[in-house]
Amino acid sequence: MPHIPKPYRNNDKHSFAHASVVQRWPAILNTAVADFRCDVPGTSENARAEAVQLIKQVEEIVRDMSKDALLIPLKEAIECPNARLYNEELKKLGTLRWSSAPWLLSECYLYSRLNSIFKLSTHWRTYDIFRQAKCNTFYNSSDAVSSLASRFQTIVKNLREQPATQKPQVLKKVLHELIMTALWGNATDLSLLVTISLEEIKKLQVAVNHRESDKMLVDDWESIWESLSAMKGGRVDFVLDNSGFELFTDVVLMLFLLESGLADHIVIHPKSEPWFVSDVTEADWRHLPEMLQDTGKFPKNREAIEFILRAVEKHESEGRLKLYYSEFWTTYAPFWEIKEESAFNVQSLLSELQKAKLVIFKGDLNYRKLTGDLMWPRTTPFVDAVLDLAHSGVTFAVLRTIKSDVVVGLPEGKEELLKKEYSQKNGNPAEWAWSGAYAVISCLRKDSSNY
Ligand code: F6P
Ligand code: MG
Repeated sequence: MPHIPKPYRNNDKHSFAHASVVQRWPAILNTAVADFRCDVPGTSENARAEAVQLIKQVEEIVRDMSKDALLIPLKEAIECPNARLYNEELKKLGTLRWSSAPWLLSECYLYSRLNSIFKLSTHWRTYDIFRQAKCNTFYNSSDAVSSLASRFQTIVKNLREQPATQKPQVLKKVLHELIMTALWGNATDLSLLVTISLEEIKKLQVAVNHRESDKMLVDDWESIWESLSAMKGGRVDFVLDNSGFELFTDVVLMLFLLESGLADHIVIHPKSEPWFVSDVTEADWRHLPEMLQDTGKFPKNREAIEFILRAVEKHESEGRLKLYYSEFWTTYAPFWEIKEESAFNVQSLLSELQKAKLVIFKGDLNYRKLTGDLMWPRTTPFVDAVLDLAHSGVTFAVLRTIKSDVVVGLPEGKEELLKKEYSQKNGNPAEWAWSGAYAVISCLRKDSSNY
C-alpha cells in the first residue's frame, strides 16, 4: 500500500489551484454571466424576472470567493442528485473556505453549485450557461475540423483498398496518428480561455499533428495497441472530456475503431450537467451533427464532413454507438471509488466499464480524478496512484495534456529537467505542469503483471 499524500489545496501558492481560485474561477463565472445576459432578452416576462434573481445567485458565488466565505451546503432536491454527497463531504471535512479548501473538491463544488441555481429555477431548468462559449469556439475551429475530416476520409479510403497482409501495420500506424490527434485535441479546453486567447487555441489545434515526441512525458501507447489488437471487435468506452474540436477528434477515433474492426461497439460517457465549462453533455453530443451540418460555419471539405455525419448516424441508429449516463462523473469522487463497496452509487457503472476491452479517459480533469488530485511524488508509478482502480477488472488508458499539478510516472530526474527548462524560458518553474504543452498516455491492462 503506497503512502497516501494530501490533496492539492487552494492555498498552495506553488500550484495552479491558487491561481484558479483568485483569478480563473471568478473570470469563468463573470464571462458566463455576460453570456447569460445575452440570452435573456426575447424570453417571457417571468423568465426575464427570474434571470435577474439567478444572476444575483451566480454573482454571490464570485463574492463568496473574494470574501473567502465558507463553502455552504448545496440545496438538496430531486433535481440535484449529488447534493447530498457533497454536503456529507463538506460536513466530514469541517469548515472549508474557498481560499484553502481541497482544489478538486472545491472546483467540482463550484460547478455543482452553479448548476443547482439553474436546475432549481422555473424557467431555466435545462439552460446551459456555457452553451454559447462551446458553440462559438467550435465554429472557430472550422479549419481544423475540415482538415481532420478530409484526413479521415482519405484514411478510410486507403484502408478499404489495402491488401489484407499489410492491414495490421497500416492499422497500427493510423491508430497511433488518431490517438495522438485525440490526445492533443485535449489541449484546447475552454476553462483555460481566460488565460489564453482564442487565437492561441486555434494555433494549438492546427499544430495537433506536429507535436514533438519530447512533449510526451509518459507514453503507454503500445499497451493501448495491445489491448485493442489482442482480439477483433469488442467494446471500447470513452469517458469524454470537452465538446467542440476535442469531441470531434474523439468521434474520428471512434469511427476509425469501428471502421477497422478494432471495436464493434463504442459506449460514450457524457456529463449529466454543464461541467468545467466545456465538458460534453448529452445535449452537446446531440448538437454536434446539427452544428456540422451548417455549411456557412463549416464551408470547407463538405464531402468529408458529410461522410463523418453519415457514419455517426448509421452507427448510432444501428446501436454500435451508444451513450451511458452516470451522475458519478459530476461528483467530486476519485475514480478509485468505482468499486463494489462504495459510498457512491457505482455498481452498474463498474459492471459496464468491465465489459469494455478498453476504457479511454480523456483529459486533465479525468486524470486528476484517476489520481485523486493528490500530491504524489512525480515518480510514483501510475498503478500505485490510481489505488483500487488498479484491481477493478477494468482495462483503461488516459489521454491527457498536462494542465494541472498532479503528474505521476515520470522517470527519475525528469521533473527537475522540466523545471529547469521552464524557468529558463518563463520564470516560474512550476508552470511546466499547467501549460498544456506536455502530455501523458498512461494505460493499465487487467491482464498485465503489475495490475
Ligand atoms: O488545470 C486547469 C484546468 O482547467 C482544471 O480546472 C481542470 O482540471 C482542467 O484543466 C480542465 O481540463 P480538461 O478539460 O482537460 O479536463
Ligand atoms: Mg474539460
